[in-house]
Amino acid sequence: MSRLAKKGVMSIQPYQPGKPIDEVKRELLLEEVYKLASNENSLGPSKKALTAIGKALKDLNRYPDGSSFYLKTKIAKKMGMKPENFVFGNGSDELIAVIIQAFMNEDENAIVADPTFLEYRLITEAYGRRVKVVPNVNMKYDMDGIRKAIDDKTKIVFIANPDNPTGTYVNDKQITKFLENIPDSVIVVMDEAYYDFVDAKDYPDTMRHLKDRNLIVLRTFSKAYGLAGLRVGFALANPELIDCMNRVRLPFNVNSLAQVGASASIDDATHLKKTRQVVLKGKKFLYSALDKIGLPYVQSQTNFILVDVKMDSWEAFQKLLRYGVIVRDMKAYKLDSYVRVTVGTDKENRKFIEALKEI
Ligand SMILES: Cc1ncc(COP(=O)(O)O)c(C=O)c1O
Repeated sequence: MSRLAKKGVMSIQPYQPGKPIDEVKRELLLEEVYKLASNENSLGPSKKALTAIGKALKDLNRYPDGSSFYLKTKIAKKMGMKPENFVFGNGSDELIAVIIQAFMNEDENAIVADPTFLEYRLITEAYGRRVKVVPNVNMKYDMDGIRKAIDDKTKIVFIANPDNPTGTYVNDKQITKFLENIPDSVIVVMDEAYYDFVDAKDYPDTMRHLKDRNLIVLRTFSKAYGLAGLRVGFALANPELIDCMNRVRLPFNVNSLAQVGASASIDDATHLKKTRQVVLKGKKFLYSALDKIGLPYVQSQTNFILVDVKMDSWEAFQKLLRYGVIVRDMKAYKLDSYVRVTVGTDKENRKFIEALKEI
């Protein structure tokens, strides 16, 4: 009963995920449905991951390795870091909660941009901590505005780089200047969920700041690695920050299939390369098709595009559903005439464009 809820819980807006394929099939009696709503990998997971998961099934009577030892060691080697620089989570979104639990006192605040990934705000507020919002300027993070918003109670600054839902990014110079000009009582969380899709030459190499700055970088296996359903993400930081996070996370937060699946997918460079090619090619196709239709969009460093459909966002979403295309309406982000579409396979991208023309 809601009267039993802790103070503040009833004013939390639950996160709305993309509409599932089966739900659309069921509701609209459609046989073919294309989900371009959650920035997933349309090529599916790596075959290597599936084989490794199959082999691990027989050991499901055992608890997972609580430290994700093999996964951690492997990825550390690949990235030229130490295992002590890593902590894994049940998706990178779990690590957002872990960060808040580990670092934010009750009277401290976090700074988020607007629009950006909504979970920063929702999770911070769910823990009863205050959020300060700094609006984006021309769909880009306002780094000076964020710096100015920092006060003596600010503990965390969340930066999605590249950003979701805009697809824009903050460049190396901006990040370096920002990190050099903030108090050392502030932790910057740099969420690089879409890192593998970036092709901008001046995108920051955040690894070089890890040693000297209060910086936590988040990455995920949900996007380019195609393992969103397994739930694996990780944080990289200096060992002191990682130690604080390890103290508050649950002991078995990453299940055994997730650990072996993620570990095997690191070995599948071909799948990653193909994924990147499909996204880069798909983006070109979509940009050119949108240009022809005459609809504005935001240039993206990710596997999705924010499109101004020049009509009500929710209405566009509903109408596209009837053609079996699921996109994400942007009402929750107050972008009332925009939808966000994930770059899919050739067939999916064409379907989206055809349906868009119809509506
Ligand atoms: C910017 C950003 N960060 C984090 C996530 C969550 O990723 P995960 O599946 O690892 O929880 C998403 C998912 O859409 C995202 O867009």
